[in-house]
Amino acid sequence: MDLRSVGDRLEASAGLDPIVEAAHRGVDAVLPRGPVKDSLHGVWLGHPLHPLLTDLPIGFWTSAWVFDLVGGRRTQPAADVLIGLGVATALPTAVAGLADWSELKKPEQRTGLVHAACNLTATALYAVSLLARRRGARRGGVMLAMAGATAATAGGFLGGHLSFRRGAGVNAAAGAPSLEDWTEVQAAGDLTAEQPTALSVDRAELAGVETSRGPAALYARCSHEGGPLEEGDLVDGCIRCPWHASRFRMDDGSVVSGPATAPQPVYELRRDGERLLARRRPS
Ligand code: FES
Repeated sequence: MDLRSVGDRLEASAGLDPIVEAAHRGVDAVLPRGPVKDSLHGVWLGHPLHPLLTDLPIGFWTSAWVFDLVGGRRTQPAADVLIGLGVATALPTAVAGLADWSELKKPEQRTGLVHAACNLTATALYAVSLLARRRGARRGGVMLAMAGATAATAGGFLGGHLSFRRGAGVNAAAGAPSLEDWTEVQAAGDLTAEQPTALSVDRAELAGVETSRGPAALYARCSHEGGPLEEGDLVDGCIRCPWHASRFRMDDGSVVSGPATAPQPVYELRRDGERLLARRRPS
């Protein structure tokens, strides 16, 4: 099997949808949108939390793998402690991952489901390995840890696919135009204080609003997954994304609520006769 196509095939596997939908309902019931879920997304960090946490179990388990392989009797206690630390840190890592997973598009959720299943299998194998070691069955414990490492590697492969092929968790607004000089924009209608208006400039879309301080705009591709902010609504001085309800402050583009973690680029607008001009505000 060509490893390069595994993630693509999983994304197209509609047969996974009943499990994806049931799991989605479960995550929504346990983790509704709000401050707790925003903390798990990493809104407070300005960066997704899940990929940062994954370093902990991966690091602990990889170190235990080395001790098991070449350490001999002397490093057995250290290997056991590392496996226990890996299991303990895998749990918050999984919860943060589930929060992110529930706000992805369906194809990514299919791959994400298998990614999660691999990692939960790895965690269970390492937990049983620890029990076996405690009971003196060291050889069996080491074999279980090797099986856990294999499952974690498969999970890591799919996590890499989600991040680097699909861009899950990557700032989708990173390509916003720099517009250092005032540049004319084309507006789809008059700017209002009630809802965003689509503006286009330099082959990019902005979402313009008439605020109490004058006209202003945000880059229109939401930093979470690229949702169309020009189709969003205005809530308390923020644009709310129509796809997963992230809210960005018009003043400075900051994230008021997730799942987005990266701020939205802000553009200053001014009128010059009939023309509307925009330039990017330095962050
Ligand atoms: S695309 Fe998900 S919140 Fe905007």
